[in-house]
Amino acid sequence: MTVRHFLTLNDLSQDELRHLIQRSIDLKQMHKDGRVYEPLKSRVLGMIFEKSSTRTRVSFEAGMIQLGGGAIFLSPRDTQLGRGEPIEDSARVLSQMVDAVMIRTFEHQKAATFAQYSSVPVINALTDDYHPCQLLADMQAYHEARGSIQGKTVAWIGDGNNMCNSYINAARLYDFTLNIACPEGFEPMQALLDQAGDRVRIVRDPKEAVENAHLVTTDVWASMGQEEEAQARLKAFENFQVSPALMDKADKDAIFLHCLPAHRGEEVSEDMLDDPRSFVFEQAGNRLHAQKALLEFLLCSE
Ligand code: CP
Ligand code: NVA
Repeated sequence: MTVRHFLTLNDLSQDELRHLIQRSIDLKQMHKDGRVYEPLKSRVLGMIFEKSSTRTRVSFEAGMIQLGGGAIFLSPRDTQLGRGEPIEDSARVLSQMVDAVMIRTFEHQKAATFAQYSSVPVINALTDDYHPCQLLADMQAYHEARGSIQGKTVAWIGDGNNMCNSYINAARLYDFTLNIACPEGFEPMQALLDQAGDRVRIVRDPKEAVENAHLVTTDVWASMGQEEEAQARLKAFENFQVSPALMDKADKDAIFLHCLPAHRGEEVSEDMLDDPRSFVFEQAGNRLHAQKALLEFLLCSE
């Protein structure tokens, strides 16, 4: 049987993605009720992190424990990966020892190569190009706050980065319109825009992007790995801050999301995360439940 990976949202069908939202909501309720559910007893997740993480690491590790299994944190600093052992060899070795692998890398190709050589499911926990796990939590957060996102309008403000690319995939798969406001030179991947067609458009003015939007979202202006560009990016993005005043121009029921960590005073005003329209902490909490749903899907339906 072929192994299912989760490298981008495109690896799952629309039905599977919708099922994951509902399953995540159910698992969240079970967790709240204190119900023990351990379908992954003695199963192990290997977690490879080339970049820092708080939410992704803790939610995957806690999630595996709650599902009855365990997780092993693998940093290039103290594994042979950091000393140049080829990713292909590492994948062939590790996938005989663990039941699934979660990987956070700079180059997306590295995660893809790992998956190609892995005999167990591989989950993309963020690459320079995509962050699909975050989108599961985001879609759940919108659903819980306002119901189905189908037919709604989302405004992405700022950098055309990994999160923005994943929002373009989500626009197709969850069937919403996406307005992206980014400065020239900071657009998302052209191939994804081509694939998405009319439902995604690029504008240069954040106010235009948020008009009639039901969900407004953004992310840091300099992602991990772009630290040296941070100063230049501050200048390029200065008109792209999301604030309560910008939210006032969106639909009256609009909510605000941010994958976190956030830089107050940069992509968000000092008060944005505490605005009543902000659901960023519910969104972050959903990482736990969405990933449990994903792990269950990948490991229990084999
Ligand atoms: N949103 C997110 O992926 O956060 P971490 O980098 O803390 O995992
Ligand atoms: N775009 C950000 C997301 C962090 C969760 C980054 O890649 O650093």
